[in-house]
Amino acid sequence: MKFYILLALSCSAVASARFIPVRRANSSLQSGQDAIAQNAQFASFTADTPCSDSQFPLACVQGSFAQCVNGKYVLTACGATLTCAALPNVGSPGTTVTCVAPADRDARIAATGATAASSGSAASSSSATSAAVAATSSPAAGGNNAGQGGAAGNKGANTTSTDSGDPQTSLTLLSSVIAKGFENNGQDQPTQGQVASLTSSNNFINFCATVPNLPITNGQQIKTGSCNPAPMGIIAATTNIPSAKFVSPKNGATIAANQSFTVQLAIQHLEAGHFVNADENYFAAPQQVNTAGDIQGHSHIVIEKLSALDQTTPTNPTTFAFFKGLNDPAQNGILSADVTDGLDEGVYRLASINTAANHQPALVAVAQHGSIDDMIYFTITKSGAAAAAAGAAKNGTAKA
Ligand SMILES: *[C@@H]1O[C@H](CO)[C@@H](O)[C@H](O)[C@H]1NC(C)=O
Ligand SMILES: *[C@@H]1O[C@H](CO)[C@@H](O)[C@H](O)[C@H]1NC(C)=O
Ligand SMILES: *[C@@H]1O[C@H](CO)[C@@H](O)[C@H](O)[C@H]1NC(C)=O
Ligand SMILES: *[C@@H]1O[C@H](CO)[C@@H](O)[C@H](O)[C@H]1NC(C)=O
Repeated sequence: MKFYILLALSCSAVASARFIPVRRANSSLQSGQDAIAQNAQFASFTADTPCSDSQFPLACVQGSFAQCVNGKYVLTACGATLTCAALPNVGSPGTTVTCVAPADRDARIAATGATAASSGSAASSSSATSAAVAATSSPAAGGNNAGQGGAAGNKGANTTSTDSGDPQTSLTLLSSVIAKGFENNGQDQPTQGQVASLTSSNNFINFCATVPNLPITNGQQIKTGSCNPAPMGIIAATTNIPSAKFVSPKNGATIAANQSFTVQLAIQHLEAGHFVNADENYFAAPQQVNTAGDIQGHSHIVIEKLSALDQTTPTNPTTFAFFKGLNDPAQNGILSADVTDGLDEGVYRLASINTAANHQPALVAVAQHGSIDDMIYFTITKSGAAAAAAGAAKNGTAKA
């Protein structure tokens, strides 16, 4: 079984087509009856039929896919061999409006056992709207996918003459990658304070449609927040959890003010030297590992000024004294960065930020593990001499 995403075709910049997951399998009788009822209603629709977000936000108008925009349908042609129809959903109630081959439409509805609209058919209960995500596509792709989905009675027939069948360009969610466990909210094993997980039967592929107020991350660092649709990718095994330790400066070190110093970070199980364009590819691809199973990525160091070495108030993560991406491969297991201008007098916290290539935090197999990052504290004094407090204590002038 596969999930097919059939494409409506974009006919203008304004009317971006929507693509909608359609599951190929059997369907409930009610959904089939609802689909029949909706298609009957759509038969009377014209481009001038008023619409709203609650009343058929998606519909079919004279064979075209119709999307309600400001109370008026924007039509998108379905392509030569396809027509627009409401189809019964599979595995969940409701219907989906999409472009489909007429024979496939009929087979899908027939598979539910429905032959007519039931008297109680909820004509406007299309579930398409909540799942739909704005997208554009080429007519060729739409035709191909629809052709693929069109083989309703022909289990497993998976190509048309022009379909590359490449899962990495197809808009099909392969059944082999569906995480069935995502359908479970976890509350079958109750634990004090544990909350229900979000659930999904389609790998959350359209999750960002549930937060229409947020832009898609789209590879960018959007400061006001966004929703990212990329999967997390390859999760490193417990044998490959990255680990790091600062070699220099050492924890508790004292360094002279305004003098260049080098930060060195020893790192294992992270194949450094992999970093993508941070402005165009941020969080934009899944985590990857090398043949040994180590995450391919890079590190960063960040130095934050503290009010005291024993400061207890959380820092402000948007301000820091020094930040640098460690983009080069490790040399003998060590990553380095020069703090060329040094730092002014004060006390500081130095931390690593170990990430995958697309800058996402390193993801590993288990929740309970040692820290993937290191963090140390150091002091900058005018001369670089040992801290006054330690000297004072040695001098016997510091009383408990
Ligand atoms: C749907 O298909 C599944 C698996 O083939 C089957 O177990 C189930 O009975 C079917 N349901 C209906 C309503 O036909
Ligand atoms: C789908 O197409 C591929 C490539 O031609 C083929 O290897 C595979 O067996 C086909 N799958 C089915 C279910 O027919
Ligand atoms: C370090 O440089 C800063 C900025 O130029 C300056 O304000 C500060 O006085 C310097 N500190 C020392 C100890 O020289
Ligand atoms: C010890 O105290 C004396 C007198 O206050 C001072 O001159 C000296 O610098 C101190 N030594 C250290 C190591 O702090």
